[in-house]
Amino acid sequence: MFEFGNLRFRPLEKDDLKLLHVWENDFELMMYSRSKPLNIVSMAQLEKQYEEKMKEKNNLYFIMENMESNEPIGFAAIRREEWGNVQAADLGTYIGRKELWEKGFGKKITVALLEMAFIHLNIERCEAWSVEYNIRAHKVLEFCGFKKGGVIRNTVYVAGKKWSSFHFDMLREEYLNIRMNLLKKTLGEKVDAYLERTRPVLK
Ligand SMILES: CC(C)(COP(=O)(O)OP(=O)(O)OC[C@H]1O[C@@H](n2cnc3c(N)ncnc32)[C@H](O)[C@@H]1OP(=O)(O)O)[C@@H](O)C(=O)NCCC(=O)NCCS
Repeated sequence: MFEFGNLRFRPLEKDDLKLLHVWENDFELMMYSRSKPLNIVSMAQLEKQYEEKMKEKNNLYFIMENMESNEPIGFAAIRREEWGNVQAADLGTYIGRKELWEKGFGKKITVALLEMAFIHLNIERCEAWSVEYNIRAHKVLEFCGFKKGGVIRNTVYVAGKKWSSFHFDMLREEYLNIRMNLLKKTLGEKVDAYLERTRPVLK
């Protein structure tokens, strides 16, 4: 488990597949998350994907819960990159509860994923991909210090049009320069309680 302010990142469990079945068949959510509004996926397919995920050794799959209500709000993943000898990871997330979009959770989730990757998993470079029309995601990534490095043209066809994909990345040294500022902005008065948990080993 990883706790960040009022968010708990807990492992994805088989029981969560009912939830994923709703979220991963949601037209609007998948249009932004996967650039694939018709992500029609059956429970049997989700179960198969889940079994495959459970065999992976280095990737982390989470359900985020609001710690005040214990309600699941979304899904996130930290996937290690297999190529290159610098440790890198791809970060991805979606907030499944659409009524919670644009309330600041995305920024908090992304900073939490960066904390896990850079501070606890010894990752040196984090990456994220987003489709051209996903302004919310771009705003969140840029707020968190990601830099847009590349545009891969015409990767997807959505709503009758071709769209490009944007590639964002950030190095650990860049994150460390803005870390405290981001923690304060996303955790507010809970920042000390968050840092307190690791303080004993740093003494
Ligand atoms: C992307 C996602 C994780 C972002 O989380 P969120 O909680 O909605 O985002 P936040 O509230 O933290 O921040 C959104 C920012 O985008 C800005 N924004 C939203 N729409 C915008 C627009 N059309 N133009 C300019 N800015 C816009 C908001 O104003 C806010 O920035 P601000 O707080 O500086 O004003 C969430 O919306 C989501 O799950 N979307 C669907 C799935 C998805 O897109 N996943 C990411 C795939 S890469």
